[in-house]
Amino acid sequence: METLLVQGGARLTGRVAISGAKNAALPVIAAALLTGETVNLSGVPGLDDINTMCELLESVGVGVHWGPGCLSLNAQDAVAGEVSYNLVKRMRASFLIAGPMLARFGYTRMPMPGGCAIGSRPIDLHLKAFSAMGAELSVESGYIEARAPNGLKSAHIYFDYPSVGATENAMMAAALVRGDTVLENVAREPEIVDLANLLTKMGAKVVGAGTGVIRIRGAGELQGTSHTVIPDRIEAGTYMTAAAITKGDVILENVVPEHLTAVIAKLREIGAHVDVEESEIHVFSDKEPTAVDIKTMPYPGFPTDLQAQFMALLSLANGMSIVTETVFENRFMHVYELARMGAKIKIDGRAAIIEGVGGLSGAPVAATDLRAGAALVIAGLVANGTTEVVNIAHIDRGYEDLEKKLCALGASITRKSPSEKEKASAATAS
Ligand code: UD1
Repeated sequence: METLLVQGGARLTGRVAISGAKNAALPVIAAALLTGETVNLSGVPGLDDINTMCELLESVGVGVHWGPGCLSLNAQDAVAGEVSYNLVKRMRASFLIAGPMLARFGYTRMPMPGGCAIGSRPIDLHLKAFSAMGAELSVESGYIEARAPNGLKSAHIYFDYPSVGATENAMMAAALVRGDTVLENVAREPEIVDLANLLTKMGAKVVGAGTGVIRIRGAGELQGTSHTVIPDRIEAGTYMTAAAITKGDVILENVVPEHLTAVIAKLREIGAHVDVEESEIHVFSDKEPTAVDIKTMPYPGFPTDLQAQFMALLSLANGMSIVTETVFENRFMHVYELARMGAKIKIDGRAAIIEGVGGLSGAPVAATDLRAGAALVIAGLVANGTTEVVNIAHIDRGYEDLEKKLCALGASITRKSPSEKEKASAATAS
């Protein structure tokens, strides 16, 4: 398995272009299943999770073509086939194809996504929405089958929690149902607004995306379109944290600053300078971080996907910070890895109490999930000596060219391939 060797001590300076958002691209790709016409997408990042979504679509007959800077999808010959467990187990967001499949074909059979490192992540809210739209559901042998032989119907659905994925699945299904569907207490993330914009271009009428109530007037048929995916606010936040922790001076290009309001506010509280232009953010810092408290929340609150990266930064702050994770129940795996580098963090239920230390030291550490991996790389940038991050497949799922972009800003990071001996011993161990 490849690893990243991060040499501590670099101060990041320069400009970095932010890629298209993984979490916006995934539902938008899934939405191509809603029409027999071609959907052309630009700004889709080159990531393992995107490849998995493309493979999933191909497995049910969708034509997938990568052109220069553009992904073309045509679901004219798509069928309501069974989806392979091997693909679904790689990525929970695979379940995003269930809504479009059910709406287009009146049938879907999907493997249960199962738990993952950051929590149990159930799909009850997705299923509740399908059921409210008239689908009959059954769960057997690890698979969920949803049937709506006479098509789905419009509905008024209240979500007990503003789940991002459940909101997206319900929106995509409703877009293909004639009549008015009302979704209440929905997610308000920018990725939801991006999906709403795509569905509108495809022929549905979507009102209220970005607020807690979305109204969708579906169309019996949707058309092909072209769409550019929004910039990745989580990738942007990751580079902003990296700039702050290294006391650097970095300009991020291709960002939507309004998507980062909570993040900018917290960075300023921590003591970094953040200047905002229309599509650029300039972060520079010349002092030790100040301790702050952070509570993750659904958007527009502080994103759970930046909790780990900020924890790396706060582990070097003057004073004690409390980070409370309210979105996922088990998203503190990185704490044990940061502790290996010298961070002083105690977990108390859903809160992590961080006592800032004067410095971190390089150590072998494991990425336990995508964002945890990014946090360890960030910590490695300022640690004394070399940090070796293993399990970097997690990082490759969601960061386009992470080490290349960081190195262009002055970091020293190399990707190490396993030696023949290491490959042989890994094969024996498994
Ligand atoms: C999406 C993002 C992920 C981000 C998360 C929260 C994608 C591909 N992934 O994940 O990066 O961390 O939003 O911002 O966009 N829940 C239920 N029942 C459900 C669905 C969710 O209880 O049916 C719970 C989850 O267990 C979790 C919380 O709701 O505790 C938030 O999950 P959700 O908003 O659905 O996140 P995802 O869409 O999986």
